[in-house]
Amino acid sequence: MPLPPVIAIDGPTASGKGTVAAAIAQKLGFHYLDSGALYRLVALASKNQCIDIGNSAQLAVLAEKLPISFENGHIFLGEENVTEAIRTEEIGLRASTLAAYVDVRLALTGLQRSFLKPPGLVADGRDMASVIFPGAILKVFLTATAQARAERRYKQLIAKGIPAKLEDLLRDLQERDARDSNRGAAPLLVADGAKVLETSDLSIDQVVAVVLDWYQSVIAQH
Ligand code: DC
Repeated sequence: MPLPPVIAIDGPTASGKGTVAAAIAQKLGFHYLDSGALYRLVALASKNQCIDIGNSAQLAVLAEKLPISFENGHIFLGEENVTEAIRTEEIGLRASTLAAYVDVRLALTGLQRSFLKPPGLVADGRDMASVIFPGAILKVFLTATAQARAERRYKQLIAKGIPAKLEDLLRDLQERDARDSNRGAAPLLVADGAKVLETSDLSIDQVVAVVLDWYQSVIAQH
């Protein structure tokens, strides 16, 4: 039996890929994988257990047996609802550091692939198209300037009542871009055959519409 279709959406931090991927999954009735959340969960769990960020072997063991579950848009680590706790800048930076370790990435590979079930999957991350789902029917790379992405994140935080400074966000984001792009293991890159969409001047709805159009064209050709 052929595998269900995958739409892989990769891109740098704050490129809007999570919001876009979730909206597309909802419109198509597909499953959704937020792969960054898995790296963030390893970051949070390892921080709670005081595991040294330099200890890749121990981090990989932890990643292999993470007690995680996703329920109605909420993310649980064991019994604890950590949906908000994994979204801090501190956890994002820690996630970006441990995501550079090959053993950690391998430990999370099977878990990511287990999200692929009928009728299909929308997966977002850095290496969805290049490593985890190379057979994806549609590969999208969303990008936006660092300034536009920092401004988006700034507005999100302020809207949630979380104090933020634009220049700090811009610096953190550039630091993460550099680390995610320059690492040896599965770096952030435009995969072969991926369609690139520059979103600095587009709304979420516009991006969703373009990707859905691309998907319909691909389906029509099959
Ligand atoms: O998408 P995000 O910001 O939630 O991801 C957090 C970190 O996890 C990101 O800085 C790099 C890493 N990551 C990764 O290496 N590969 C993925 N597929 C997803 C995220």
